[in-house]
Amino acid sequence: MNELLIRGRVLTFVDEPQGIDDTASYRYFEDGAVFVRTGKVAAIGDYSDVRKHLAADVKIADHRPHLVLPGLIDTHLHYPQTQAIASYGAQLLEWLNTYIFVEEQKLAGPEHAAFIAGRFMDELLSNGTTTAVAYCSVHTQSVDAYFTAAEQRGMLMVGGKVMMDRNAPEALRDTPLQGYDETKRLIDKWHGRGRALYAISPRFAITSTPEQMDMSRALVREHPDCYVQTHLSENKDEIAFATSLYPDAKDYTDIYARYDLLGRKTLLGHCIYLSDREISVLAETGSVGVFCPTSNLFLGSGLFDRDRFDRLGARWSVATDVGAGTSFSMLETMDEAYKVLHLQGQRLSPLNSFYRMTLGNARALDLEDRIGSLHAGADADIVVLDSNGKSAMELRMRTAKSLAEELFILQTMGDDRCVAEVYVAGTPMKGRIGTVAAADGSIVGIQRETA
Ligand code: GUN
Ligand code: ZN
Repeated sequence: MNELLIRGRVLTFVDEPQGIDDTASYRYFEDGAVFVRTGKVAAIGDYSDVRKHLAADVKIADHRPHLVLPGLIDTHLHYPQTQAIASYGAQLLEWLNTYIFVEEQKLAGPEHAAFIAGRFMDELLSNGTTTAVAYCSVHTQSVDAYFTAAEQRGMLMVGGKVMMDRNAPEALRDTPLQGYDETKRLIDKWHGRGRALYAISPRFAITSTPEQMDMSRALVREHPDCYVQTHLSENKDEIAFATSLYPDAKDYTDIYARYDLLGRKTLLGHCIYLSDREISVLAETGSVGVFCPTSNLFLGSGLFDRDRFDRLGARWSVATDVGAGTSFSMLETMDEAYKVLHLQGQRLSPLNSFYRMTLGNARALDLEDRIGSLHAGADADIVVLDSNGKSAMELRMRTAKSLAEELFILQTMGDDRCVAEVYVAGTPMKGRIGTVAAADGSIVGIQRETA
């Protein structure tokens, strides 16, 4: 049997922290351990307690003095845009046309798609992210490359083929029927295979005709266990364009509501300029607004109003939104989230940041029984964080007096240099990054050992 005892300062959330020192919201073991058996968490607790029930020769990974947490979760990004991060000088619609719709055409090539998918997964892992929800390109082979790369690494990944049948270059357009047929075939092939989960992905109202929205509705009805992902209310020009294309809709949110695309499995990227009415519709339907701080700053889009989401009872999650997002790191993302909220007089406590990257995002996906927290029976997706990962951090850490302060330093100063190890279903991955050879001999990523 495949067994491993992971030792370190174990931290896992059990609920959303209600304040800076809400110690009831998490479990913390100063000398703690997570016992992993065949890819699942079998036990968690104080090292001495967990250890005494195990065989004398149990394999131990001693990560002291580092923190051991559930793997981080990213709820919105675009894998075809991995090489388009840092594209200069444009806001959303110009940025899409100038850079992104050019870049995404490259995914027509299966070799390029496999290369980018492999590198994408490795970037996530390098940054301690073990699950993500991503858009693929319009090409079905980009979805195959994505889930193949995830499967090679054993990762629980959510994704889907983008559907768009207008306002995009010819080479990136499908048709309503083609988008439907291809999505259906991809769901049959991938959804529930291993750890793969599918997201039905009409890109946004601007790039889908009413006919394609009808087809999206049919897909959602026929596959209620799949996720739905799209974009909503990110940029003022986008809102004006989208609502002009659907003149009968009350507002942007109503476009998706009319096509029955809202619900507990729906993730809506950005949600910056929503009215109270729109946020209330998200609350009623259980839809999730996805806060993408680095992207919203980079594209000059605007500021996500978290307090209004909370006040109106709507669900929200956090995400990088690479390639408009400027980093794969969820730590750097929460650093920017803190600043975006600060600009609006809102606070984001370090406990809440770490809750959001783990259990909070797992709850947004309704996957909290499997990922986002370390409890018996959970998948053993784990990140080990080194709070002294940079010299400036080491200096700052000398004055830290509490766990909350340490977490705030990690979030404010940390990046991939603070990820000492990452486990996917109990397998350590950090040392294997960049070691899978593609058919043509090029290196595309990690080959996962089969248990
Ligand atoms: N809206 C529609 N497509 C995109 C995209 O690729 N990135 C962002 N940030 N917004 C979008
Ligand atoms: Zn996006």
